[in-house]
Amino acid sequence: MTAHIKVTKADGILTLVMNRPEKKNALTDAMYGVLADEIEGAQTDSATRVIVIRGEGDMFTAGNDLADFAAAKPGESPRNVGRFIRAIAQTTKPLTAAVQGRAVGVGTTMLLHCDYVLLAEDAKLTTPFVNLALVPEAASSLLLPARIGHLRAFSMLALGEAVEARQAIEWGLANAVVPLGELVPAIEAAAARIARQPLGAIQATKRLMRDAEQLTAQMAVEGEEFAARLQSPEAKEAFMAFAQRREPDFTQFN
Ligand code: COA
Repeated sequence: MTAHIKVTKADGILTLVMNRPEKKNALTDAMYGVLADEIEGAQTDSATRVIVIRGEGDMFTAGNDLADFAAAKPGESPRNVGRFIRAIAQTTKPLTAAVQGRAVGVGTTMLLHCDYVLLAEDAKLTTPFVNLALVPEAASSLLLPARIGHLRAFSMLALGEAVEARQAIEWGLANAVVPLGELVPAIEAAAARIARQPLGAIQATKRLMRDAEQLTAQMAVEGEEFAARLQSPEAKEAFMAFAQRREPDFTQFN
């Protein structure tokens, strides 16, 4: 158990808090491991009726830890991120999230697997995979165009354009926007309401609404492309540029 994920269970609600605010809750392999363990465990834990994911500090999460990306070795895939994204695709326990500030990369793509999403007024969703010379993950190449249409999805996935809270609501990426100070009580109230619903019927409904097998298959295809891109000179340039706090120069590559 890492202190970078706070886990609490009470009244049927499993709360998972990304707690690495000094690094903007960037997700390390160890953090994915705890999230995956908890979400997998919740599936068979009859005491868990709903799951809440949120982040400590001024943003939800800056996405995958870029130092981990930069250190990735050819042919060696990180252990836990795959487990985490498969867990959120496959869980039939209701999944909810509360987002303040930025949700970058997997911070946004995990929302596509949630059943209820609240945003604070300052929320900003970005999926800058191509900006990092990578490709979309977590089945977002399937889910995002299906949810918001190809053109909007292309602007997010291929151009890294940010979506502000109000626009996210219009596009169907979240349920509601609340003032920042009300975000945590509001998600707790929503989770408590979900927890009072009949769980068997909720889980059956989720199974009817989502094709977990198709999502998992898309993740596998994306994962192969992602792993190849991680080793590309373009991606190395992107990670080095981030570490050196400069803009990447992709024009040197054909
Ligand atoms: N991986 C690793 N470290 C990260 C990180 C990430 N994804 N995002 C932020 N950090 C670290 C920064 O390196 C910095 O560390 P330092 O204080 O030791 O230098 C610290 O978190 C604070 O980040 P900073 O960039 O100073 O905060 P900011 O508020 O100016 O900007 C972001 C926040 C999220 C806009 C910016 O950090 C960013 O673009 N991060 C990368 C996001 C990304 O591309 N994620 C992967 C998506 S697939």
